[in-house]
Amino acid sequence: MTRTLEAFAKVNRSLLVLGRRPDGYHEIDTLFQTIDLSDELAFEEDDRLSLTVAGGDVPADETNLVLRAARALFSHTGAARGARLHLVKRIPSGAGLGGGSADAAATLLGLDALWGLGLTAAELRGIAASVGSDVPFFLVGGRARGTGRGERIEPLPDGPDESLVLLFPPFGLPTPDVYRALAAPPLADPPPPRWAGEAPDRNDLEAAAERLRPELSALRASLRTAGAVSARLSGSGSTVFGAFRSPEEARRAAAALDGREGARAAVVTTLSRADWSSRAMRWRPGGAPAPEALR
Ligand code: C5P
Repeated sequence: MTRTLEAFAKVNRSLLVLGRRPDGYHEIDTLFQTIDLSDELAFEEDDRLSLTVAGGDVPADETNLVLRAARALFSHTGAARGARLHLVKRIPSGAGLGGGSADAAATLLGLDALWGLGLTAAELRGIAASVGSDVPFFLVGGRARGTGRGERIEPLPDGPDESLVLLFPPFGLPTPDVYRALAAPPLADPPPPRWAGEAPDRNDLEAAAERLRPELSALRASLRTAGAVSARLSGSGSTVFGAFRSPEEARRAAAALDGREGARAAVVTTLSRADWSSRAMRWRPGGAPAPEALR
């Protein structure tokens, strides 16, 4: 039987870079928010582990975060079992939307359920953090604060549902390139103060990303001109997004901005933790059948 999980994307409503750490990562303080843009991951019992991918441009090889998450699960549990996985990509990659990380988290949740491993939330969080800095957020969903390199998650109460316009430029941005371009100073000891109360409307990676790709600053400006109350880069980009007062305003802005600088526009809404968990954490029977295993 094939069963499917939905892997939802995120935006970063706020992202402060506090400094470069001795391990090469950057200490950050960020506000993650789930949005209703998703990939689908289908699971089927099988003797060996295999992955096929439909849509998008991510390879179905060992660099795919789905297989990296499955391997991390194997090494943590010693359960080297098989499964046939089929990923339907809709979240653009290199986009700052956490698509690969969302797929990785869905892999951990799905294989834990498929194989009846009964991992605790703390174990899943630990494995997730070993796969990538953003992955633990995708076990929690909704709105959450991420500190450390982004892997330490504090779930926050939901905000009101919001309509966002996402602009997908025709290029991706590799996260390490953007952090390198930022040339952040070493993390101070003691670290600088973090925000309290409202997260600041700010993303410290914007200036670096916009130096690499100046069209990103034109896209943000176009969102503001179209009436966005806030226009930010998501994560390290390349997606920029604007928050609008109503779904109608968002739809009008998306229609007006589609094609600007070669970017595609889409309207999404934010998902509360309850909505995320009822949609993402539920096995659905069926789903796209996996084509013949590749390996
Ligand atoms: O953790 P993850 O594998 O997703 O990180 C990818 C790359 O992004 C890291 O190798 C690092 O160059 C950069 N990064 C960083 N600081 C963070 C998160 C990621 O420098 N907090």
